[in-house]
Amino acid sequence: METVTHTEAVRGHVEQARSRGATVALVPTMGDLHEGHLALMAEGRRCADVLVASIFVNPLQFGPREDFQAYPRALERDAVKLDGAGADLLFAPSTETIYPRGLAATTRVEVPELTDILCGAARPGHFTGVATVVNILFNIVRPHVALFGEKDYQQLRIIRRMAADLQMDVEIRGMPTRRAPDGLALSSRNRYLSPFERARAPELYHTLRDTALALERGQRDIPALEGAAAARLAAAGFGVDYVSIREAETLATPHTATRTFVVLGAARLGAARLIDNVTADIP
Ligand code: PAJ
Repeated sequence: METVTHTEAVRGHVEQARSRGATVALVPTMGDLHEGHLALMAEGRRCADVLVASIFVNPLQFGPREDFQAYPRALERDAVKLDGAGADLLFAPSTETIYPRGLAATTRVEVPELTDILCGAARPGHFTGVATVVNILFNIVRPHVALFGEKDYQQLRIIRRMAADLQMDVEIRGMPTRRAPDGLALSSRNRYLSPFERARAPELYHTLRDTALALERGQRDIPALEGAAAARLAAAGFGVDYVSIREAETLATPHTATRTFVVLGAARLGAARLIDNVTADIP
């Protein structure tokens, strides 16, 4: 695997691959790779001829009081993992390469309706930062297929919407959440948890899963289900940002005809803000 830092180097590799008829998969990440990221790499490896991974801790998606500086960076270790996962190319650009005109001056991609709700309500500008950087990465790499995790459910919906609205010629593929044996969704931010907090953290998943099960068993009082889930998390020591039951496709508030739901939660445990989600289908 080769590591490159400049746009021209990526374009050279990808153009060469495309000219011999090869297909290209892209897995964008912020690094500090775990098994969740590596599952995306495995699927990218499987579904395309050339696998490109990117590692870029994107300043545009962090709020002023968020963990941009502290976000774990482990480029050398990540490169070894990517090599083992069969990636062909690692793109690890600098901020100047991605935003040559500077953060404030750069063109942004706004995805209406989906960006200001749920996690977007507590993190203004976050999803615009995500959509913008993903668009830039797509324009540099020009992948046939790009892979994202369902762990970041709202992010995946926003990227799908962006790709559809802007008529991008790229297939967006979502992959199931990888979890620790006790249920906690793997995340780079789990390393902020103390051992005590880590032991409690799976309660987020268990609460969302039980709420999804209640929906599947026929309970339909959405506010009551949301309230009970939030209370259960608070009792377990979480600072609850939200627990919300939405339509799985649109993230709109469910109505009587809704058949596919997603139960989303965001909650703080010590210094970590954890998110997770579980879908529920009713016949
Ligand atoms: P990052 O948090 O590094 O995640 C990169 C990709 O890995 C995302 O698509 C995310 O959903 C997926 N992922 C994370 N944890 C996962 C898990 N436990 N199981 C399955 N997939 C998982 O998400 C970002 O980076 C950034 O916002 C990015 C899209 C790269 C734009 O900067």
